[in-house]
Amino acid sequence: MTMIVTGGAGFIGGNFVYYQLQNFPQDRVVCFDNLTYAGNLKTLDEAMKNDNFRFVKGNIADREAVFQLFEEEKPDIVVNFAAESHVDRSIEDPGIFLTTNIMGTQVLMDVCRKYGVGRFHQVGTDEVYGDLPLDRPDLFFTENTPIHTSSPYSASKAAADLLVLAYHRTFGMPVTITRCSNNYGPFHFPEKLIPLMITRAMGDESLPVYGAGENVRDWLYVEDHCSAIDLVARKGRVGEVYNIGSHNERTNLQVVKAILAELKKPESLICFVKDRPGHDRRYAIDSSKLQNELGWQAKTDFDEGIRKTVRWYQDNQSWWREILQGSYRDYYTNMYGNR
Ligand code: NAD
Ligand code: TYD
Repeated sequence: MTMIVTGGAGFIGGNFVYYQLQNFPQDRVVCFDNLTYAGNLKTLDEAMKNDNFRFVKGNIADREAVFQLFEEEKPDIVVNFAAESHVDRSIEDPGIFLTTNIMGTQVLMDVCRKYGVGRFHQVGTDEVYGDLPLDRPDLFFTENTPIHTSSPYSASKAAADLLVLAYHRTFGMPVTITRCSNNYGPFHFPEKLIPLMITRAMGDESLPVYGAGENVRDWLYVEDHCSAIDLVARKGRVGEVYNIGSHNERTNLQVVKAILAELKKPESLICFVKDRPGHDRRYAIDSSKLQNELGWQAKTDFDEGIRKTVRWYQDNQSWWREILQGSYRDYYTNMYGNR
């Protein structure tokens, strides 16, 4: 079996590549990634040593490159992680979010249709549901919650989801979609809340918390996200959407304080800064459909996940220090430039 993983040099895609290679050693995994600022080949160092793994640099919105890849690989399953993923960047410059997240997904759908791929799985986000009020802890996003986006990022992801469902309805394509809450864990790019706070606290730098730090996110350890995607992509019902989350709701301030406690650093590093425009208040996921239909359960709770994540950033400093210095972007040129 051959699986194409787009965006596999990023945070969740990278973790998913390892999940596949470890759990299905007989299968071939092909990573297709454009290596934007968020993609890092170092993340795939270990995978590169595996004969069942291939890395191809390319853009999912580049029709010719994508069709060429499928002609070579004739994949059985495609899992699409490739995306522009940072809300703050989408507020600064929305254009690339539309090109990659929407047009790129369309190219993938077209190529899957042409080659009769057995399953196209779209990795989506709970942010397509908008947000929940802070004073209604009884409310959760279900798969039937209306799409109601806040940022250019979430709007582009919602558009992609709708396109995927339209290709299922119109062309009968075998698709599935998952919508997950916020992830954290190894290989997380240090512009997102948790790795940003860990790496800055390690250097005794100030920790910028937006607004009053009261916004709530439902945190899922990345390995649990990978197991859920794998289950849905292989066994989920075609044409269905599945929410992923495990009731680990925390305010941003609670998250930052947990990191500081783990690192034994003072809370005086916290610094409240101007809020994000259109800042979603609360995300909270009901994943009972996934649990009841496919028997999925998360394995790592928040306290254990934060401990493991802090430890990973302590043990893998060259990975994130090279990112902060920008030198990781020369890695591809150094490794592959003259090949
Ligand atoms: P990331 O930004 O860490 O990685 C994205 C990867 O996609 C990078 O390797 C990048 O080089 C690649 N990429 C970007 N544009 C591309 C293009 N045009 N062609 C080929 N490759 C391209 O993102 P992530 O946090 O790993 O998120 C992966 C997916 O999961 C995204 O679709 C995101 O919307 C979704 N998601 C993320 C979270 C989260 O908490 N991070 C939660 C739910 C869903
Ligand atoms: P982020 O990691 O950007 O994920 P998302 O916006 O997709 O949920 O942010 C998580 C939360 O942390 C969000 O409420 C914004 C907040 N945040 C800060 O308070 N300070 C920061 O420096 C960042 C990056 C995020």
